[in-house]
Amino acid sequence: MKHAAILGTGSSLPQRILTNEDLEELVDTSDEWITTRTGIRQRRLAGPGEETHRLAARAAAEAMDMAGIDANDIDLIIVATMTPHMIMPSCACYVQAEIGAHAAFAYDINAACSGFVYGLDLADRYISTRPEMTILLIGAENLSARVNWRDRNTCILFGDGAGACVLGGSGRAGVIDSVLAADGRLAELLYTHAPPSMNPDIGRQGKADCVIEMAGRDVFRHAVRAMTDAVSTLLARQDLGVENIALVIPHQANIRILNKVMSSLGIPAEKVFVNVEKYGNTSAASIPIALDEANRQGRLAGGDLLLTCSFGGGFTWGALLMKW
Ligand code: ACO
Repeated sequence: MKHAAILGTGSSLPQRILTNEDLEELVDTSDEWITTRTGIRQRRLAGPGEETHRLAARAAAEAMDMAGIDANDIDLIIVATMTPHMIMPSCACYVQAEIGAHAAFAYDINAACSGFVYGLDLADRYISTRPEMTILLIGAENLSARVNWRDRNTCILFGDGAGACVLGGSGRAGVIDSVLAADGRLAELLYTHAPPSMNPDIGRQGKADCVIEMAGRDVFRHAVRAMTDAVSTLLARQDLGVENIALVIPHQANIRILNKVMSSLGIPAEKVFVNVEKYGNTSAASIPIALDEANRQGRLAGGDLLLTCSFGGGFTWGALLMKW
């Protein structure tokens, strides 16, 4: 059976950089507080011409270029996002038009920060039954449009960006196994309201803006436990130890979450790819952006085992193992 292997990667980040020092001007915070609590030093903010689908299309163009394919070769576009430019049409349809992939069908998925891991699992299921398919999987976010810039608990964490990969069937490389999970009972610990026209209760709830609301300590606790459990389950099921893994590319939530998960699993820091200091938490875009950076830095060789894991609103979480 063939599995979804990565044929090319790409990423696109907005031009504008917002540093921790810039944030000191907006809210009562400090570079020292943000750096020690999160590891984040700066993030990118989308401006005109950098809407979610535009960043997504630029990342896609890079991935197609690396894969050596043309837009006409794409059969399916999946965009993982919780911040599309429009509710309808989907971000994926905008990307299709932007890159000229007119033979593709296209849709979005929303699993918050776990969107890219869910998307890899989904792409693999298409390819295992239709191995001739070429799939463009993108994680893209414009979180700065959904951040309350007066709330120091959340506005320090998030950034914008997009990452993409082209996936095709391979008998040698590709997705090996995944553990995906969700728990909607904990939805109120991390959420964003729908736009006002979609939710008549907003006025009554006193929520004027559709911004990210978060119970930070609870999110931290659940994120550490869930990612640790998902990775442990996956490795046990595959009868693998951490010594078999060449590289871990986790969702770039914040450095303290990543350090806790990796130390619980006994994964040494040199095996973990981290770029959260440059981009903050870009939700569904964080893993594909990191994957593209790791790939372009030559951190992955053919046959390497790559592990990825994520946690986000919903709650949703998961871990996925693939051979490079
Ligand atoms: N600057 C300065 N002080 C701040 C800031 C800030 N930006 N934000 C909060 N504080 C203050 C609080 O008001 C509080 O003050 P008080 O003691 O006078 O009440 C104090 O710092 C401690 O607040 P805590 O919330 O307890 O701080 P904590 O050590 O838990 O760190 C953080 C907060 C960084 C949000 C942490 O809880 C965390 O990392 N949570 C996970 C959140 C996350 O990653 N969310 C992303 C989405 S989910 C995902 O991607 C996994």
